[in-house]
Amino acid sequence: MNNDCFFITADKNLICWNYKNHKQYELSHAHARRLVDLIYQQDEPQDDNPLDQNLLRCDILNHQPADDKTWGWDMLSRIFHFGTKNIALSIQPKNEADWAALYLEHCESVLSKPLPAQRINLNALQTIQLLRHTDSGLFEALLTKRSTSRDFLDLPVQLEDLTRILEYSIGFIGERELPDSSNLPAALRKRRSSPSGGGLNSTEAYVYVRHVDNLDPGLYYYDPFGHCLHLLSTELPPVGKMLSGQHFSDSISAGFFLTSRFDKLWWKYEHSRAYRIALLEIGHVAQTLQLVATALNLDTWPTGALCEDLIDPLLQLNSPGEQVLFFVGCGHAKGSATPNSLKTILAQ
Ligand SMILES: Cc1cc2nc3c(=O)[nH]c(=O)nc-3n(C[C@H](O)[C@H](O)[C@H](O)COP(=O)(O)O)c2cc1C
Repeated sequence: MNNDCFFITADKNLICWNYKNHKQYELSHAHARRLVDLIYQQDEPQDDNPLDQNLLRCDILNHQPADDKTWGWDMLSRIFHFGTKNIALSIQPKNEADWAALYLEHCESVLSKPLPAQRINLNALQTIQLLRHTDSGLFEALLTKRSTSRDFLDLPVQLEDLTRILEYSIGFIGERELPDSSNLPAALRKRRSSPSGGGLNSTEAYVYVRHVDNLDPGLYYYDPFGHCLHLLSTELPPVGKMLSGQHFSDSISAGFFLTSRFDKLWWKYEHSRAYRIALLEIGHVAQTLQLVATALNLDTWPTGALCEDLIDPLLQLNSPGEQVLFFVGCGHAKGSATPNSLKTILAQ
């Protein structure tokens, strides 16, 4: 039995859902009964049984050995993670103009449906009007300034700025290190500017360097313990190709692929609920990273639309224990949320 499949019932049918290749099959009663027999009787599929041959053809049964690469949580998170990984677009945009046309079509279809209400089922006992602040300080100014840009210029980012972003978002803050008396292993005494699930610092960063002064283009792993960059590759695919065809980002100077070390979370937390922790921690780190970049007068662009089959090899990720979840690009932009390609279509 292919262990990448799970079963649900719908409309009085048994559905076999292969969550890795994103295919679903409705099983006839005869196929379902035969599958149950094979599972319970531990039988081998027969060459002369058409039902067995159909189950093999659909990869519900296969001759592959069970996937022995471990997953440290129960099936819930495994299904969700792999079921939402490598989602192929029906049409993969090849360039910025392609992307803009498809995105516009998507927006038009979404906007043709009614917008969900602002708040569902609110039974307030009282409403208290709050005052708005007028005495904004530097931090409020920073929060006000951060915004998503999608019109990046091919201008260099300074290595010093890239370093500072890494230091204050992924790096460890020396002053925050827990003392020896905490009785924790040294690696667990490190603290970042963002909170971390279980204090495990399971978020990692891989830096996409396209145009940074005094740093060769390439893909680097940032080591927060040594505060150094390890060059992993000098072959850089266009970033938009790895990010679901969002080619307006191809001119971005630098970016950060954020991964989560699930194996660290598995070590401490057994239930799939900890999968949420991985996502939440990445969100905290990503926001901090964007705020540091904004404070340095850089523009940022976040995306979760990843093509993992292209990113994983570049980041040398080859076990389920570490997975890429988010990307934050940064550089100098004109500061518009609308990419130039989309503006061109809208102006026509
Ligand atoms: C989890 C997450 C995923 C996002 N994915 C994308 C994306 O795939 N492409 C994109 O252009 N923007 C993406 N964004 C940026 C949002 O579109 C943007 O934050 C939103 O429009 C609000 O604009 P602001 O960031 O300027 O406040 C993402 C933001 C978040 C938080």
